[in-house]
Parts: sequence; C-alpha cells; structure tokens
Amino acid sequence: MSSIDTYLHGYNKTEQQRLKDQAELTEFVIYQDVNFQESKHILEVGCGVGAQSEILLRRFPKLKLTGIDMSHDQLQAARENLKNSNFSEDRYEMIEMNAEKMKFDSYYFDGAFLCWILEHVKNPTRILSEVRRVLKPGSPIYITEVMNSSFFLDPYAPHVWKYWMAFNDFQYETGGDPFIGAKLGNFLFSLGFKNITTSVKTWHFDNREPKKRQQMMAFWTELLKSGAPALLEHKKVDQTLVEKMEEELEQISTDPNGVIHYSFMQASAIT
Ligand SMILES: C[S@@+](CC[C@H](N)C(=O)[O-])C[C@H]1O[C@@H](n2cnc3c(N)ncnc32)[C@H](O)[C@@H]1O
Repeated sequence: MSSIDTYLHGYNKTEQQRLKDQAELTEFVIYQDVNFQESKHILEVGCGVGAQSEILLRRFPKLKLTGIDMSHDQLQAARENLKNSNFSEDRYEMIEMNAEKMKFDSYYFDGAFLCWILEHVKNPTRILSEVRRVLKPGSPIYITEVMNSSFFLDPYAPHVWKYWMAFNDFQYETGGDPFIGAKLGNFLFSLGFKNITTSVKTWHFDNREPKKRQQMMAFWTELLKSGAPALLEHKKVDQTLVEKMEEELEQISTDPNGVIHYSFMQASAIT
C-alpha cells in the first residue's frame, strides 16, 4: 500500500482544491459512459475530498453513496464540500478505511466507482478483489486510471518531459503505477469480473478551443507542481529543472499554437 507519507500529491489545501478543479474540468469525459441508473447504493473507493462523490450524487439523484478513504483530512474536506450541496443531503457517508481491508459485509453494495486511486497503491488487485467481495452479483464497476506515457505538449518541452518522467519514476519507486491504465482489463479479467470493457479517454486541446486549452494547461501546471516538494525532498529533481519546467509551461500556456494532449483509461465490468 502506498503510505500517506509517500503520497505524491500530498494532502494540503492546494491539493484538495486541485482535486475539485480536476473533477469539474474532466467531468464531461469521465462520465460519458458511467451509468448507475440501476444501482441504489454504491461504494466509492478513495473518494478523497468528495469531488467525484458530488458529481455522482448530482448525476444519479436516487443513489446512496458510501465513500471510503484512508486519509482523515481528505474525508473531513469531503464532508465539508458535500454539506454545501443541497442535492446530496442524507444520501452519503464518508468512512476512514483502508480499501485493502474493507470492513463491509460481502454483497453489501450494488455498484462501485474508483477514480485516480489504483495508481497510488502497491496492490491494486487486492483492492479490486475486496471491491468484488462487497458487491452483489450483477453490480457495475467503473475504474478511471492514468496512462502517463500519453502526455504530450507542443511546442516540445524537454524539461517538462524530464520532470514528468522523474515524477513517474518516483511514483513507481514508492509503490504506485503511473501506467496502470493499460492493466485494468487484465486485473478485472483475472478476478472473474464479467462484461469487461476498456476505453481510451482523451483530452486534446489546440487552437480550436483556446479557452479549454488554457484551462487544461493551468490544471496540468498545478498537477506537475504538486509533485515538486516531494521530488525535491527525495532529490529526484533539482531546483533548476523545476524552474525550467515552469518556464516551458508558461511559454506553452501563452503560445497561440500550443497543443496539450493526455489520454487515460476507463474500464467497466459487472460482478
Ligand atoms: C488522487 S486522490 C483521488 C480522489 C478522488 N477519487 C478524485 O478523483 O477526486 C486518491 C485518493 O486515494 C486515497 N487512497 C490511496 N490509497 C488508499 C487505500 N489503500 N485505501 C483508501 N484510500 C486510499 C488517498 O488518500 C487519496 O485521497
């Protein structure tokens, strides 16, 4: 399990806001194929600050949601965030729990949602096996995960790339997997899930949508910078590389012909 100490993004207020911005900015792609219309009570694993929980409760107004996370602070922020959304009243609970050892009875939920969590854990199949145990037969599961080799910026930005690979290497060394998206189908298959699908989801912004390109660049700038304190502390990058990366990001953000591309994976299945 990736411990709280080595969690790459950290748990500070900037990171909590980043998770909310990320969910808002990416909702249109992540939820295209997510359907919990037939579910009554779903489990969200690694719910963080409740950014996805809020979207799920808004999109599926009859749904009850239980979110689990191993971070006390994230869960506190989740409760605060959800308190302010009138549509979610009494339909959620947030519980501090390690997803590798869930305290729920078997066949307790009838749907599961996981987003950007398996990339941070040492034993993703252990978590998916637990998810399978607590789901009733025939329940849907949706998993959205990173595929970090797909990140690309134009004009070419060598320092961003060097920093990004240091970021990914560090995630590997600390027990995570920045390329886990490609493996979701195998995990689900090995655990006996049925009707497995995997799809590539893409954010690709260029001159056709300058405002969205700018928003996506701002989002990625925050994401890349969120790893800098840990990467500097563990001597995976130096201050010069961080500064050069920031310069390149700034240049691309204002380049009239800039391009930003990122593809990630979404898997679905039923138990
Ligand atoms: C990048 S955040 C994603 C949060 C949320 N899914 C979202 O999309 O906004 C990953 C979350 O997974 C949690 N997490 C990591 N390993 C976990 C584990 N073994 N059990 C429960 N939560 C875990 C972290 O504490 C963190 O809040």
